[in-house]
Amino acid sequence: MSILVTGGAGYIGSHTVKQLREKGYEVVVYDSIEDGHEEAVFDTTLVVGSILDEIKLDETIKKYKIEDVIHFAAYSIVGESIVCPQKYYRNNVLGTLSLLDSMIRNNIKKIVFSSTAAVYGEPERLPIVEESCKNPTNVYGKTKLMIENIMEDYHKAYGLQYVSLRYFNASGADPSGLIGEDHHPETHLIPIIFETLLGKREYLSIFGTDYNTPDGTCIRDYIHVNDLGKAHILALEALSNKLDSGIYNLGNGNGFSIHEVIQSVERVTGQKVPLREEGRRVGDPAMLIASADRAKKDLNWYPDYTKLDDIIETAWEWHRKNKWGFQRRKNK
Ligand code: UFG
Repeated sequence: MSILVTGGAGYIGSHTVKQLREKGYEVVVYDSIEDGHEEAVFDTTLVVGSILDEIKLDETIKKYKIEDVIHFAAYSIVGESIVCPQKYYRNNVLGTLSLLDSMIRNNIKKIVFSSTAAVYGEPERLPIVEESCKNPTNVYGKTKLMIENIMEDYHKAYGLQYVSLRYFNASGADPSGLIGEDHHPETHLIPIIFETLLGKREYLSIFGTDYNTPDGTCIRDYIHVNDLGKAHILALEALSNKLDSGIYNLGNGNGFSIHEVIQSVERVTGQKVPLREEGRRVGDPAMLIASADRAKKDLNWYPDYTKLDDIIETAWEWHRKNKWGFQRRKNK
């Protein structure tokens, strides 16, 4: 009996797979390896395939006697989702429908789904609770919200049990230094700061300094990738016990501006970050801060990494040892 982890070779997926294996679970990773990295799953069974391929999904589920699913596989670049909506609706929404239908055909009832704070858009009130208004400002967030709605309907009609985890800003890396964040192209703040320190970029562009925040830059709630991984396992375990289904925010409940993130990096590395102030990036909300009270109460989920410097420290360990990401290992 195994857990199928779609997108298990990606950033958050690979950290979750590592923890699942350490806890003794049998895991099968299903990943297209378009954005994920084979090297990130080590000796875990890897099936290379698209979530749009129902035949391959059926074969995999039968062959490995899959019991539960953790579903990460998705395109996730916010800017790209706005210019290529077709790519995002097809893969994220249609691909998830194909996965859910394959689960139902094979009598699999439990799924933990990777959702996002992007479902909320610009929040009316902080901290954001699960009932807050959902008004995604980009296609990526819309695809995740559509999938949550589909899962709710499948829950009512077919008895699917689901947990949807809305992550705020995933960051950091496993302290082993063996896996970490490696996106192409990289769009996220923390890895871009490190790319600058490692000489891969000339400077960090700060997107917008005129927001209605104390220092004018955007505020985000940074949550360690291993704390996200831990939440997936707790969610799956809860579904096997008493939990029927649910939707949960995952964040630390603290907001940090871009300048505060830069200061944290400078404290941790002892280096000065070269930067330039630029205009706003389209679709960036000014402030996103989570209330994760529901996850604490229902899942008994408490983040281990509550200090930004500690999160940044683990990310720096990974980036400094793997300047070229997983590519460096391939070329060795
Ligand atoms: N930023 C910069 N310069 C950069 C990169 C980012 O100033 O080079 C800024 C952004 O404008 C934003 C902040 O840093 O204000 C954080 O940006 P990220 O791209 O790291 O993260 P986002 O908050 O945009 O995105 C995250 C997740 C998405 C999710 C979104 C929800 O990564 O998957 O939160 O809003 F959709």
